[in-house]
Amino acid sequence: MRTIQLGDLTVSRIGLGCMGMSFAYTGAGTDDAESIRTIHRALDLGVTLLDTAEVYGPFTNEELVGRAIRGRRDQVVLATKYGFLSHTGRPSGQLDSSPASIRNAVDGSLRRLGTDHIDLYYQHRVDPTVPIEDTIGAVAELVQQGKVRHIGLSEAWADTIRRAHAVHPIAALQSEYSLWTRDQEELLPLLRELGVGLVAYSPLGHGFLTGTIRSESDFGPDDFRATNPRFTGENFQRNLALADELRAIADQAAATPAQVALAWLLAQGDDIAPIPGTKRVSRLEENVAADDLVLTPAQIAALDALTPPAGGHHNEAQMRLIQR
Ligand SMILES: NC(=O)c1ccc[n+]([C@@H]2O[C@H](COP(=O)([O-])OP(=O)(O)OC[C@H]3O[C@@H](n4cnc5c(N)ncnc54)[C@H](OP(=O)(O)O)[C@@H]3O)[C@@H](O)[C@H]2O)c1
Repeated sequence: MRTIQLGDLTVSRIGLGCMGMSFAYTGAGTDDAESIRTIHRALDLGVTLLDTAEVYGPFTNEELVGRAIRGRRDQVVLATKYGFLSHTGRPSGQLDSSPASIRNAVDGSLRRLGTDHIDLYYQHRVDPTVPIEDTIGAVAELVQQGKVRHIGLSEAWADTIRRAHAVHPIAALQSEYSLWTRDQEELLPLLRELGVGLVAYSPLGHGFLTGTIRSESDFGPDDFRATNPRFTGENFQRNLALADELRAIADQAAATPAQVALAWLLAQGDDIAPIPGTKRVSRLEENVAADDLVLTPAQIAALDALTPPAGGHHNEAQMRLIQR
């Protein structure tokens, strides 16, 4: 597995998103043994970047990752996130990136992950009530204390990124980026100017781009996708055409749609690390093999020309938490 730089941090250029092992998707938390095998197989194949967050579960995903990496901590670039949960008594559902909350959050994450340091500590969403300078200042203190090695942001936009970077170097922005969610491309010049890497979350479009989701009944009512505009009603039916176009290009490339979706992201630059999520060894192996897939210019052009998706990439409540 090739590596890339996120700021000063070296990571495998394909990571592993661990969220779906415990949270957000139908079946999450039902097979921890297979999830742990998936993490072990990832490490065996040279994947170093493991992604979790305290809110996944909440807490149970960090515990699962902590169990999985016991004895193998030195092979892992461990990334987690704070800010969706409040440790200062704010009502449930309110963001909290106040310094007091972060100082509590980090100790809980360290304990659950069974480690004395987090390699990459992200703010999960920008908290509009706390100046980003205060937030990053607090995390910079954790760097000085050795609890955190590198600092990240998630779904932040240009002004916040610049202001944060002025307080302490930001290694990575983690935001949704995939064949059907391309607005991060507007930020790439700024990220490159500052030397900030882009970690692409949901690089498989929450599974849709793999072509394996063909019916809305594929997921239950508590699944994240049940309220996602692209996965519901008429939009879902229209988006099947996009998945079909992607499959046709994948057939031509003698690869799977998931591999093509990942190879396309890798082709966008050596500062972009997709973190596909899966809780199954077989899919992990399939996704990691995208490291060796080189798309032709004609295939990339065809992917760039895919039918645009119907529907926004998040529902309204989630969009309100995303900076633009
Ligand atoms: N910063 C943020 O706000 C944020 C938001 C969302 C996600 N994330 C992070 O990004 C990671 C990845 O995003 P994601 O999990 O939302 O979406 P994703 O990686 O685009 O897709 C994951 C879904 O695709 C399925 N899948 C994976 N590989 C497959 C394959 N080869 N063939 C068919 N299906 C496949 C998985 O099912 P199975 O698990 O059943 O295989 C899962 O349902 C998460 O795990 C999380 O760590 C961060």
